[in-house]
Amino acid sequence: MNFKVPRGTQDILPSETWKWQRVESVIRDVCDKYRYKEIRTPIFEQTELFQRTVGDTTDIVTKEMYTFTDRGNRSMTLRPEGTAPVVRSYVENKMFGYADQPVKVYYQGPMFRYERQQAGRYRQFVQFGVEAIGSADPAIDAEVISLAMELYKRVGLTDYKLVLNSLGDKESRIAHREALIAHFKPSIDELCGDCQARLEKNPLRILDCKVDREHPLMQSAPSLADFLNEESAAYFEKVKGHLDAIGIPYELDPNLVRGLDYYNHTAFEIMSTSSGFGAITTLCGGGRYNGVAEEIGGPASPGVGYALSIERLLLAMEAEGKSFTKDADLDVYIVTLEEDAHRKGFKLLNELRNAGIRADMDYMDRKMKAQMKSADRFKAKTVIVIGEDEVADGVVQLKNMADGSQEKVADSTIVTALHEKLK
Ligand code: HAM
Repeated sequence: MNFKVPRGTQDILPSETWKWQRVESVIRDVCDKYRYKEIRTPIFEQTELFQRTVGDTTDIVTKEMYTFTDRGNRSMTLRPEGTAPVVRSYVENKMFGYADQPVKVYYQGPMFRYERQQAGRYRQFVQFGVEAIGSADPAIDAEVISLAMELYKRVGLTDYKLVLNSLGDKESRIAHREALIAHFKPSIDELCGDCQARLEKNPLRILDCKVDREHPLMQSAPSLADFLNEESAAYFEKVKGHLDAIGIPYELDPNLVRGLDYYNHTAFEIMSTSSGFGAITTLCGGGRYNGVAEEIGGPASPGVGYALSIERLLLAMEAEGKSFTKDADLDVYIVTLEEDAHRKGFKLLNELRNAGIRADMDYMDRKMKAQMKSADRFKAKTVIVIGEDEVADGVVQLKNMADGSQEKVADSTIVTALHEKLK
């Protein structure tokens, strides 16, 4: 029987993980600069958490969740996103009582959605996300957006744009909802079954339909922008003003509705504009979600955040032809020519590692030429060669791979000599 990686998932092999680690280190660095602290929540949560927050008419909840009944007969779900778990933790751990508000956190880890696999769309993907909970200041909306934009800049991307919309507050949305129902109702039979089911429950979701995207009714649907009440419009103006002030350009898109129900006011996506990028161009999505904490039993705690997948970030780098420069794997590779030399080499290897030097040697009993090839592949800066003579004389041959120069070094001074060379 041949086993394969489950559809929609992938192994990240040792030849690729270094890129992920590089992105992770940029993430840590940027989050630290903005004072966002890491939070780690479980991979699974009670199913109801996502139903209540992400929304029970969304594609994520109705079609894409990995839900199972555990042995205690509870319905559990592999997290499809990170905001609901973070707000759950915020409420459960009474973070609203922390002296420093808003609480600013970031997370990174696998999310699970049963989606149709295509380039940039996986069933298990790694999201990096940030959440700022406890403040309704429009400046913090601009801060989280700025953090995302900086991250893409730091990994070298240039071809991306910010798309912005306002979904307004509850009152604006109720007015818009009525207009949507009036718009779609007379011709609802022309739309798919999902849209028909959404008409009364959540007509905004109709605009997010993947099947009827091109239907003329979609184009002529009433725009939320025309239903924003004064307060919502003023809030949106302030967010835009802060973005203008820090020089972040954006495009307005009144049709940007997002695939999750918890949003209000600011909604945004960052899209790749690289011609090499596939059909799915969204790199990052987020927005404001006032009301989620209350929905799950906490006090009013306005929040804003976003998430992006590392997979799509790396795909965007590839599409733009941008890459990280890979460091050498090793400082030293030890080449040994016979058994006594191998024994001496192994002991030396241990000494070098204890001295903080990145070192490795051959364990395949290969000829010298093959061992030298490995040293090349690992981009070892130095090679130590040990043969019969070197064992007898208490020395090693030290070869500098950059210029090919070679010298004999006494066993007792190897570590000092290497520290000097590797400076
Ligand atoms: P989302 O738009 O569902 O929002 O996902 C955010 C990002 O996750 C997407 O822009 C994309 O980069 C990535 N993503 C989503 N699905 C997949 C997939 N199947 N394969 C690869 N990447 C994917 C959220 O999840 C919200 N929790 C974001 C948020 C945080 N809003 C406020 N705070």
